[in-house]
Amino acid sequence: MSENPQVDAARQYHSGTKHSYLSVRMHPHFLDWENKPLLFKLYPTLEVIRLPRDFQDTGKSALAAIAAESVQANSESIPDLETLAQVLFFSAGVTKSRKHPQGEIFFRAAACTGALYEIELYVICTNIRSRIQLADSRSALPAGVYHFGAAEFGLRQLRAGDFRQAIVTAAGDDPSVAHAPVIIVSTGTYWRNAWKYQSRTYRHFGWDNGTLLANLLAIGWAMNLPARIFAGFLDREVNALLDLDSNREVALSLVALGHTESAPAGAPTAGPLALPTVAYSAKEVDYASMREMHEASSLDSATEVIAWRGTAPHNQLPPAHDTTALLPVSDSRPAADTVEQVIARRGSTRQFSRDPITLAQLSTMLEGATGGIPADFLEPFGSHLNDLYLIVNNVAGLAAGAYVYHWQERLLELLKRGEFREKAGYLGLEQQIPADAAVDVFFLADLERILERYGNRGYRAVQLEAGIIGGKLYLAAYAQKLGCSGLTFYDDEVVSFFSPHARGKSAIFLVALGRSRLRKSDTGRA
Ligand SMILES: Cc1cc2nc3c(=O)[nH]c(=O)nc-3n(C[C@H](O)[C@H](O)[C@H](O)COP(=O)(O)O)c2cc1C
Repeated sequence: MSENPQVDAARQYHSGTKHSYLSVRMHPHFLDWENKPLLFKLYPTLEVIRLPRDFQDTGKSALAAIAAESVQANSESIPDLETLAQVLFFSAGVTKSRKHPQGEIFFRAAACTGALYEIELYVICTNIRSRIQLADSRSALPAGVYHFGAAEFGLRQLRAGDFRQAIVTAAGDDPSVAHAPVIIVSTGTYWRNAWKYQSRTYRHFGWDNGTLLANLLAIGWAMNLPARIFAGFLDREVNALLDLDSNREVALSLVALGHTESAPAGAPTAGPLALPTVAYSAKEVDYASMREMHEASSLDSATEVIAWRGTAPHNQLPPAHDTTALLPVSDSRPAADTVEQVIARRGSTRQFSRDPITLAQLSTMLEGATGGIPADFLEPFGSHLNDLYLIVNNVAGLAAGAYVYHWQERLLELLKRGEFREKAGYLGLEQQIPADAAVDVFFLADLERILERYGNRGYRAVQLEAGIIGGKLYLAAYAQKLGCSGLTFYDDEVVSFFSPHARGKSAIFLVALGRSRLRKSDTGRA
């Protein structure tokens, strides 16, 4: 049996990585720019298979894609190489670059803490055809295990052959995985993010993987592909298949993509590969608490994987008083922009204008982001682990104040009326962004209830869910030509601010929404 049921590990990691007014002053962290890690994983000895870039116009509205339930897996739906390329690009591809005196930053499709991009993607697939039929009908992408290189926009083959059954077994023989022609694995590389954020990186794994998966769900839906997320699997087996050095990089989630009637019969043996990769930095610092947290939340047996799946703990807020119902989803013109257009222009707003947004716009963002996530730990569909608490600074049609969101009823309940801009800035680690935003959405969760249901791995799940909802908020904001930014926060002070309603909960994540300061950046990065 694994250490997963001994939930002190998650409690300790969470309290040991809290930010507070004092902690950031007592333990300042100075960045060693000379030792900044590379932003990409590179396998120099493997050949690159370049992916096609002539993306098809899906014509599917981004807002519809964000709010959509996943595509039903009832017909043969095997992505061709062009479709797979489009899914990878709009999930984790390089969408923009910006030069600065020290070099060039390559921004990606999904937001990521510190633009450090520590989440890597791997593809495990059956034979994949090209839309442009090859003369000798060979597969355009032969069955194998591949690493996705965002910089070169290509795949490098780690293993040749159909290895899907290894993942099917690791995922407790789940039928969606067994019938998936493509499985996409996300990994997190500690040092790539810990260079800046030290031990808090384990939280960021969930957030940064989550924003990427929000994009993946949206583009997958737009391309008519069933997609389902799995956070419960045998860690050791998946890490071994990808040949990861699990002291440095670990698998975080799987996505079963597409559907095929046939299921893999078995997988070849996957021995160690010891493939060379380019060093990220001259030296790496090891933060043991994160490795311990990961180990303590790892699953060892099929019984544990199967027990992980299924009903989420019941999440019921006390009855609401003083409520405002969300308005119907806005059908303003920019909302018709496609998933590709919205992801291509998405950025993180660097400065908000303090101008109001409308209640209809806020409603559209909340509705879109809370419609449900197809994930193994969120059954029945529509279940959620996080509660959303809001500081409303400037929303036309809604009094300024603190609110809690009632998911089922689609209501905002006023907890306290008042002007909390300065407080929001303080709670968001004394940054200007949350003070200037029109609304700040704080994610809080009853960690004890979650750990009781899922063990330590529930900690991974609650952070991942927050990242996915946060990623959906990003897309729903940019779909309406509004701005958005993920943020970090002073943990306990957030809970105190929303108490007594939030008493006993833990602060998980924060997203600011509003209007960008510069007119130009209303449609792009501020
Ligand atoms: C989970 C998360 C937390 C973030 N926290 C902060 C923050 O505290 N302060 C900030 O200025 N930006 C924050 N950001 C924004 C990132 O810096 C930004 O995503 C990154 O630089 C990449 O730029 P882009 O989102 O414009 O593509 C956060 C983003 C995410 C996804």
